[in-house]
Formats: sequence, structure tokens, C-alpha cells
Amino acid sequence: MGTETTVRPGKAGVRCPGLPEDERHMSRAFKLARRGMGHVSPNPMVGCLLVRNGQMVGEGYHQRFGGPHAEAQAIQDAGEKARGATAYVTLEPCAVSYADKKTPPCTEALIRAGVKRVVVSVRDPNPRVNGGGLARLKSSGIEVAEGVLAEEGARLIRGFSRWILTGRPFVILKAARTRDDFVAASLDFNWFTSPESKRRAHHLRAEVDGILVGRRTAEIADPQLTVREVAGHNPRRIVLDTALRLPGGLQLFNDGAAPTLVITTEGESGTTPWGERIKVAPSAAGVDLGQVLDALGERGITSLLVEGGPTLHREFLRARLVDEVILFTAPREADAKVKRRPDLRNALVVPEGWCLIAKEELGGDQLVVAQPDHSLSGMLNHSSIERSST
Ligand SMILES: NC(=O)c1ccc[n+]([C@@H]2O[C@H](COP(=O)([O-])OP(=O)(O)OC[C@H]3O[C@@H](n4cnc5c(N)ncnc54)[C@H](OP(=O)(O)O)[C@@H]3O)[C@@H](O)[C@H]2O)c1
Ligand SMILES: [Zn+2]
Repeated sequence: MGTETTVRPGKAGVRCPGLPEDERHMSRAFKLARRGMGHVSPNPMVGCLLVRNGQMVGEGYHQRFGGPHAEAQAIQDAGEKARGATAYVTLEPCAVSYADKKTPPCTEALIRAGVKRVVVSVRDPNPRVNGGGLARLKSSGIEVAEGVLAEEGARLIRGFSRWILTGRPFVILKAARTRDDFVAASLDFNWFTSPESKRRAHHLRAEVDGILVGRRTAEIADPQLTVREVAGHNPRRIVLDTALRLPGGLQLFNDGAAPTLVITTEGESGTTPWGERIKVAPSAAGVDLGQVLDALGERGITSLLVEGGPTLHREFLRARLVDEVILFTAPREADAKVKRRPDLRNALVVPEGWCLIAKEELGGDQLVVAQPDHSLSGMLNHSSIERSST
């Protein structure tokens, strides 16, 4: 029978000390996993490293949705050298086959390859796997350790976790504000934070499956909502347009840089010259945000960046549909014309009782990141809805 090493079981949000070399190899596996960013969703990013006698003998990552899993890639890369090796996997290996699953179980591939030890960061939150992969490995005599760099492991798959358990994406609200709390510095609505903050904001876009704005932001700022300051994949663009009032000439509808979904209460769902139209129920503020998240989840969007404006941020916070807020504060004040516009007051606040999880200076701006303290643990304990991943 396999044995468990001294590493404590992984729990999201809790840092578990592993052996230094385990953490080093797991860090490399995370780097590999992130190469799949933008290509694997709604599957999770996964990386795998095979190490024998201290030497890396194979590596792999999940490269695209429906493609081979990280473990299969690493085993293929290592060939015969996989025998007796330790596998470092960022996520518990999958153990089961079901009708709509696209790949064979990785546990069997690891067993067949003769791997001696398997180290994972976190368990697979998918109820069809959750712990079953580790149990299968142990029952075949493989030594198993879990919880190495578990906090990073949980963060890497937080969109997948939320989606597989609730059918909805992980929701991040992001805004930039002036020192005196306006969302614009001047009425040309140009970017007013530092170049470093801009790069970070574009990196945030590259990390998510979808980016959402309200109708007024789309109309006033005519944003592209694409990834330009860093290398990365453009997320799908989503705009809320209750009564289909947006003009067709917007960049979102014409530049072809990424698909654009329009969420409305009018007409029928389907394809339009401007992109896909999704019909949901109305709410007092426009469209029903819970239904928006359901509709995006149905389309495989596991993480969503809500870029505003203030009206939309306020409604998301009011509906308690937010998992993280990210607020950039520039050192400058808004100009006199902006100060006369109460509608341009920032509405993104860190709600009372939330945890500050990061605070940083970026090119003179202040950046804060906060989450409700139940965010990650609540997500992993949520009652399960069956959903298929590959
Ligand atoms: N500094 C920043 O980070 C930042 C970011 C984004 C925007 N901005 C600025 O913010 C300004 C626009 O903000 P805004 O507050 O006026 O408008 P907004 O939040 O962009 O859009 C609000 C509109 O979205 C539609 N909507 C549909 N369903 C909604 C719902 N459930 N909740 C809220 N809105 C819903 C409504 O219009 P319909 O009824 O017509 O659908 C609503 O009037 C622009 O000047 C933009 O440049 C700044
Ligand atoms: Zn697998």
C-alpha cells in the first residue's frame, strides 16, 4: 500500500510546508501550467514535472481544451525514464472516465509508467474526482503527498473551482480611481494610472476568460478590452445592453480582436452582426446579474473581470456576487470638469469584513486586492453540481 509523506493535506488558502525540493519542483510545475493560460478553459491549467534522482526527466502541461493532460504529456516526454520517478502535479490526477470526458484517466497512465511517488498541490474540486485520484494511486502502492504550495495551487484553478461547483465564473471587480475618488481624471477618459499599473491591468485581462463592462462604459470610452501591454490571449468581451441601445460602430463590435457577447432583455438569444446576443431576465438596474453569470458559465467562462463602470460595480457589490476586488489609486486628482460629475465617482470599495490580500506600489499608484474571507474555502465546500471537464 502507498504511504503518505509528512506534508499536510492541502487546504485552499493555507500554506503547507513541503520539503524544499518538493516546493522547488512544484514551482516549476506551476510555470508549466501557466503556459496553458487562455487555451484550456473551462478546464483548469495543469502542469506536471517528472523527477528521478534529482534530475528532471519529463515535463508537460495541459495545452488546449480537449487535448492531452499534463501527466500524459510528461510521461510521453520522459519515456522509460518515468519508471521510479516522482511526479509533481499542480492538481490531483484525474481518476475516472465518463461519457463526455475527452481523455483517459491520468492515474492509470502514472501507474503504468511505473511512477514511484506523486506530489500534488491541491485536490481536484470536481466532485467526480475529488480525492479519488489520490486514493487510486495509493491503492496501487504509489506514495502520495498533497498540499505542496497549496495556496498557489488553489489560486491557479480558482475559476475552474468556482465553475465546476456552481456553474458560475469567479468574479473580479477592477477599477482605477484618482486620489480624490473619481473613475476618470479628465473627460477624454484617457488611462490615468502608471504604465506599470496598465501592464498589470492587461495581465489581469490575460488571466480571465471574460471581461465585462456596462453599456455606458462601452458607449463613452469605446474600449477595446484586449490584451496589449503584455503577451496573452484576449478574453471574450461582454457588454450589458438592456434595451440594445449601443451603436454598431463601437470597436468591440468591429475590430474582430475577440468575440463580443451582448447581454440584453430584448429579442431572442442568437447570433447578430455584432456578435452573440444573450437574453436574460430584467432587474431594477438593467439585466439580472445572477442570470448573467449563469449564462456566461454555460458558455464555459470560469473567470470574469468586471471593469466597470461605477454603476455596474455598485450593482455587483449590492448583489454580493463578487469574489475579489482590485483597486488602483493614482496619486493625481481629477480635473475640475470631472469633479462636477457625481456619476464619475468611484463605486468600488472594499466591503467591510473583507480581507486585504495584497497591497502594492506600482509606478507611484497604490494597488489593493481584497477578498471576502470565505471566498476560497467557501468555494471548495460548496454543494456540488455535476459538470464535465476533460
Ligand atoms: N476608472 C475606471 O476603472 C473605469 C472603468 C470603467 C468605466 N469607467 C468610466 O465610467 C463611466 C461609465 O460608468 P457608468 O457608471 O456611468 O456606467 P456603466 O456602469 O458602464 O454602465 C451602466 C449601464 O449598464 C447597463 N446595465 C445593464 N444591466 C445592469 C446592471 N444589472 N447593473 C448595472 N448596470 C447595468 C445600464 O444601461 P442600460 O439600461 O442601457 O443597459 C446601466 O446604465 C465612463 O465614463 C467610463 O469611462 C472608468
Ligand atoms: Zn488527467
